[in-house]
Amino acid sequence: MSIRFAILTVSDRSWRGERLDLSGPALEKVILDKGWEIKEKAILPDQKDQIQEKLLEWSDLSGVDIIITTGGTGFSPRDVTPEATLAVIDRHAVGLAEAMRFQSMKITPHAMLSRAVCGIRGSTLIINLPGSPKAAVENLQIVMPVLPHAVQLLQNDPSAEASH
Ligand code: MTE
Repeated sequence: MSIRFAILTVSDRSWRGERLDLSGPALEKVILDKGWEIKEKAILPDQKDQIQEKLLEWSDLSGVDIIITTGGTGFSPRDVTPEATLAVIDRHAVGLAEAMRFQSMKITPHAMLSRAVCGIRGSTLIINLPGSPKAAVENLQIVMPVLPHAVQLLQNDPSAEASH
């Protein structure tokens, strides 16, 4: 099945054009290689209201299945992506965030410093990923195997039961 994605890079420096966004394109490649689609992409600064607005626009109006964000999940005072995500989701998807941290801790103890959250708004799944291209791709690859079934369930697709 094809999945429609939106990718949001959250970085003050990339938004100001001071640092090339490498994470967005790295995630894009993984998604396209899998045969899935990218419907939307954007770069925003670490500003909670702007991130929140984009998440609302993409989940309510763009008809994407999954929004992935990269960046802004750490401990620095500017890191507000989880707070923006929490402000828009209706339901938590804690298993995805737990799996990403658990598996990532086998790669680096710094995984404990990710405050990433995952949740559902309407029928759109929102997944926070860390900011570096390496960390973002590693985390996406951890949850990728369950994404088709997650989307089927969100769409209330009757054939979803066959994948149980
Ligand atoms: N997860 C994996 N798989 N690989 C990594 O290199 N880096 C961590 C963590 N998760 C990392 C990872 C680091 S160093 C931090 S600070 C947090 O994600 C948050 O990253 P962010 O502030 O760029 O969002």
